[in-house]
Amino acid sequence: MSPSALARLSLSLVSAAACSALAVPAVAQPAAMAQAASQEVRAVQFSPSIAAQRGVLVVPLASIDELPARTAELTAAERQPISRALETSEFTFAEGQRLSLRGIGEWRQIIVVGLGDDPGLADYQMIGAVTGRALLEEADAITVIASGMTGEAAAALATGMGLGDYRSDLYSARAEQEGERGGVTVVSDAASAARSSYENRGAAMIAAMNWTRDISNEPGNAVYPESFVDRARSAFSGLSGVGIEVLDEEMMGELGMGAILGVGRGSERPPRMMIVRYRGTGSAAENPIVLVGKGITFDTGGISIKSRDNMENMRMDMSGAASVVGTVLALARSRAPVNVVAVAALAENMPGGRAIRPGDVLQAMNGRTIQVISTDAEGRLVLADAFSWVERNLDPAAVVDVATLTGSVRGALSDDYAGLFSRHDALAGQLAAAGEIVGEPLWRLPIHESYADDMRSTIADLRNTSSGSGGGAGTAAFFLGEFLSRDLPWAHLDIANMAWSGANDWKPDGSAGFAVRLLDRFVRDFRHVERSE
Ligand code: BES
Ligand code: MN
Ligand code: ZN
Repeated sequence: MSPSALARLSLSLVSAAACSALAVPAVAQPAAMAQAASQEVRAVQFSPSIAAQRGVLVVPLASIDELPARTAELTAAERQPISRALETSEFTFAEGQRLSLRGIGEWRQIIVVGLGDDPGLADYQMIGAVTGRALLEEADAITVIASGMTGEAAAALATGMGLGDYRSDLYSARAEQEGERGGVTVVSDAASAARSSYENRGAAMIAAMNWTRDISNEPGNAVYPESFVDRARSAFSGLSGVGIEVLDEEMMGELGMGAILGVGRGSERPPRMMIVRYRGTGSAAENPIVLVGKGITFDTGGISIKSRDNMENMRMDMSGAASVVGTVLALARSRAPVNVVAVAALAENMPGGRAIRPGDVLQAMNGRTIQVISTDAEGRLVLADAFSWVERNLDPAAVVDVATLTGSVRGALSDDYAGLFSRHDALAGQLAAAGEIVGEPLWRLPIHESYADDMRSTIADLRNTSSGSGGGAGTAAFFLGEFLSRDLPWAHLDIANMAWSGANDWKPDGSAGFAVRLLDRFVRDFRHVERSE
């Protein structure tokens, strides 16, 4: 494809709003190509009793003993076949296990869902997500019986159903053919508590997770630094307490951001630094929590080019930026009383005649010089300038960065935990606790002092890959730490192993929206961390 054809295709995939903000002349495009199809969110209502005996009935159960109370509103003629089916099947009531029954009463389908042992709110959310995903194609009304559960648990089930109700086939004809789908009625004896929990927090989280996953799943010709910024702007439009600032190449040049500008040099699409501030009314006097995200909208590796296998997945290399912006979106939409800033370090890593080469030396905003050994270790370069900007401009209470930084984190932790690096135990503890609560687990790994030797350059202050075994998650964390004062509470989350996966029982192929729920929880629960070396 010629470069101009590619440019046309790229333009055709962005929304009309995004086009108008581009320096490139906007080209009128057919409506069908103008925007990817997003899943319509099902209407959700909470009611103390079953509204209509039709469509799909979901019956969550921890054991057969719960059946009589939970289905008190059903007739004996409806309850008995459910009971018989449970007794004669292999159903173990394990978390998220499902048994689908047909031909009972007026219901088209009754689905029993296992609650497992002693479910917490994250379990209810995951059970809801599995159910929502199983019912993705369901056109009929859905009734979920949450009688006997707390309002919070009922809201978590409903929130999960919204999270599971997500499609990643953004550009397929199938996604667009969807007709109107039935709503969800959650039957709860704590209906008003459930409704307010869902409306204050749950709906905001669904919207934020969908935004985060959509933007990660989008191809590189639709999402690049400028269009990421446009999409974030529209997501926040009308929300109170939000301020957005965007640095372009010229401003970054004046600030001396040689590292992010270096990464962006090989691309036709200029880099951006986006800052989204949110301060909720009633937030404590404390300085902001600053969340920094790696936003490589496509990572070819640059001149140190990646091999062809799976390179298409490198459109997800902006997942850290998507997650930090998505977190602030969740907090702002739910008017959380917090003070938080997201910084997205956005660039496209491409080879090209102007691209940086291995051996080149760049100077970051804080004055430190970096010898580029591999142009594929680009995430740490864009984050270096983001960190310098954050420290000079924000006086943070704590900094947490989120990045799809290294393949090596998967070697260490498989896909069971994201990597957590910090020199501040109290901060690491709060992040690990938040991850535990929401079901996005973190495992702490060291930033060993010996990494300083591995990252020493003979020509500059630092090299961007270690001299020893190559691309380690730990040496990458060490590199990042050189761009903030040692005493500032800082933690780094390497989510390269968690951000993206094949389809499973709660999500389709592609982005997991990893760290949005974790960071939302962390920010809400944050307790002051002392500055210390
Ligand atoms: N974006 C990649 C890391 C990555 C790999 C994310 C696989 C998701 C899945 C990053 O920019 C990268 O290329 N890292 C290199 C670093 C190396 C050159 C020091 C790596 O991990 O191989
Ligand atoms: Mn790379
Ligand atoms: Zn990368």
